[in-house]
Parts: sequence; structure tokens; C-alpha cells
Amino acid sequence: MAAAEPSLEELRQLVSEFRPNRGHLLPALHKVQDTYGYIPRSAIEVIARQLNTTPALVYGAMTFYAEFRTHPPAQTEIAWCSGPTCRILGGDRIREALEHTLGLPLGGYSEDGRYALHLGQCNGTCSEAPQVWVNGRVVGRLTVADAIRLARRIREGA
Ligand code: FES
Repeated sequence: MAAAEPSLEELRQLVSEFRPNRGHLLPALHKVQDTYGYIPRSAIEVIARQLNTTPALVYGAMTFYAEFRTHPPAQTEIAWCSGPTCRILGGDRIREALEHTLGLPLGGYSEDGRYALHLGQCNGTCSEAPQVWVNGRVVGRLTVADAIRLARRIREGA
């Protein structure tokens, strides 16, 4: 499933514009993710060197923000909205239904890499709450039964 990781040289070139100050850490992580769809493990060391900081600090930032991915994107990416409107309208039960039906925790990837379930943040489309995004497309006003049907379709590749 995973594409080959980019070479160290390619990564060095990619982040060469960034300078050693903390303000450049998130832009560097975003540039790597925008380029590859995720942040390869080898990029942590490259960014740390470029910004004259530690791999632990880069790793900490990468894992702190939910928008950064440490795996190549799955064929079907499901993001569960954790925003307040979705939660008030039953979002936690939607999450439980998805986790149970997909057999994945939040942040998990299927073994074959076909689908993944992520934490999402409110994107302002709260009129569709409670919702998930499937490859970026809003699937809203979900009931628990809808979530189970959606997860089964994705799990079965339909
Ligand atoms: S709270 Fe879910 S889209 Fe706003």
C-alpha cells in the first residue's frame, strides 16, 4: 500500500527554505504533508536538522496536531468531527459506531491500508452535524444506523 519514502536529499531540498526559528516548524511540517500526503518518519530528522532543533520537538509537534498524518493516506479516509455541535447532537455515539463497525480506534488504519478513521475538527459546516468526512466529502446528519451502514460499505469496499 505505501509508496516508497522520499529520499533524504529530496526531503532536504523540500524544507531548505525554512530557517531555525520556531515559527517555521509548522509550515515545514505542512509542506512535507502537502507534498507526500503524510509525514514520512525520515522527515522528522531532516526537519530537525534544518531548524536546528531536536527530532523529539518535531515529533511532538507532529503528533500534537490532529491534522498531521504519520501514514500514507488510506484509499478511504474517514474523519470524525469532534467539534461541539457534532458532539451535542450525538457525535460520540457516531464515533463509537464507526470504531466498532470498522474495528478501528480513532487514529487507526485497516491492516490492508484501505481505510482509516481520524479525528477531525469543526470545519464550519455544523448545519450538517453530526457528521464525518469521507475523503473530504461531508456525510452529515448521521444517525447511529447511518454510521453503521456507512462503515459496513467502506469495510466491504462497496
Ligand atoms: S461541530 Fe462538527 S462541523 Fe462544526
